[in-house]
Amino acid sequence: MAGPTLRVLDSLDAVARTAAQWVHDRAWAAANARGRFTLALSGGNTPRALYRRMADGPRLPWDRTVFCFGDERNVPPDSPDSNARMAREALTGQPFVNQSSVYRIKGELPAEEAAADYEKTLRTLFPGTTTFPGFDLVLLGLGPDGHTASLFPHSAALVDRTRWVAANWVEKFRTHRITLTFPVLNAAAEVLFLVVGEDKAWALKEVLKGTAPVAEIPARGIVPTSGKVTFLVDRAAAAGLST
Ligand code: 6PG
Repeated sequence: MAGPTLRVLDSLDAVARTAAQWVHDRAWAAANARGRFTLALSGGNTPRALYRRMADGPRLPWDRTVFCFGDERNVPPDSPDSNARMAREALTGQPFVNQSSVYRIKGELPAEEAAADYEKTLRTLFPGTTTFPGFDLVLLGLGPDGHTASLFPHSAALVDRTRWVAANWVEKFRTHRITLTFPVLNAAAEVLFLVVGEDKAWALKEVLKGTAPVAEIPARGIVPTSGKVTFLVDRAAAAGLST
């Protein structure tokens, strides 16, 4: 299986513009081929610029797009820390996107309940799946510590090979997160990482050029069974790659 593709762009805006075109092309291809486009949104800050461009850019098949989330904080949807709130504000303000096509993780529930509830939701969205649901596209970010989604270094969910969604205790934040597990992320047809900023340079180098175990650099665990992985990064994040 070919390794990840790396594209180094000049700025966050260039990354967002390129990613929006990427999503657009895959959305129409999936919607035209299979009648729907299943997309797992990433949280954090970087994707905000992408979501805004998706909302304002070339029209997407909004009514045939199923918006899910790769992870969520254990907070209510109106919390400033909520990934669902960030996406709703940046993306789903669109008239075309009725709320029924956006499946948020219910971060307001106790973490284990939220994980079980979301797995139930995914099983209705991917009926008949006997292994793991294959999203058409999974968007991911990269933390300075090498985490992705809410799969943090040395956290329990890293080794979960059975559940689709896990409640994951994150020691550094002394809180739970809810996250898709590696088997689901790796069942995707495509994974697109958006990595911007000099604070990501060390982690990006560790992911693309290092040999550390997944326990230390969880993003190294994103190796789709048959899907493609692409990193869209800015020059600052790529600074460690040329050495
Ligand atoms: C989250 C994300 C997380 C994020 C990275 C990068 O819930 O925060 O899922 O994995 O993608 O922490 O975050 P930034 O894009 O804000 O740097």
